[in-house]
Amino acid sequence: MKILLLIGVILSAGMLLIKPMETSAHGTENHGKMVPTDAQMKKLHAMMPMFSYASAGLETALEKGEITAVKTEAGKILAAIPDLKRSKPHKNIKQRKKFVGLATNLEEAVSSTVNLGKKGDLAGAKAAFRKVEEACAACHAKFR
Ligand code: HEC
Repeated sequence: MKILLLIGVILSAGMLLIKPMETSAHGTENHGKMVPTDAQMKKLHAMMPMFSYASAGLETALEKGEITAVKTEAGKILAAIPDLKRSKPHKNIKQRKKFVGLATNLEEAVSSTVNLGKKGDLAGAKAAFRKVEEACAACHAKFR
């Protein structure tokens, strides 16, 4: 049983190595469900689930009034903003300025959420968090 598993792992690792070669052998033609993509698009795709967890964590922390957790979760989002600004959506890719602007809106909303939280203004922080959710939705409406 273990050996079978090992063989499986080796085979799939092999496939990973073969894939890029296949692609280059076929030149630039597009294969069925292959989506045109590049490093910046992949980066964005990989980043988004973290945004989802962190903003859910942020909301819970606000509900419980746990300011330390508010800072931690907000910090995760804020730390990723520079990467978000450098990343690239699949849709409306030409509208970079707008994309970066929407990322900035998110940054500002998260910053004010955490700043109000630190000051002990929990109601204000919760209101600011609604702006965070709006900032996520605004960018998705245009670029997702
Ligand atoms: C500046 C633009 C922008 C902002 C701001 C933004 N997103 Fe996204 N998000 C995208 C784009 C573009 C996609 C589609 C990416 C893809 O499919 O590769 C996406 C996809 C997602 C997905 C689906 C994941 C997937 O695998 O495609 C989730 C979940 C998500 N975003 C959560 C969030 C949350 C939560 C926030 C706010 C805290 C947020 N996003 C803010 C642009 C943004």
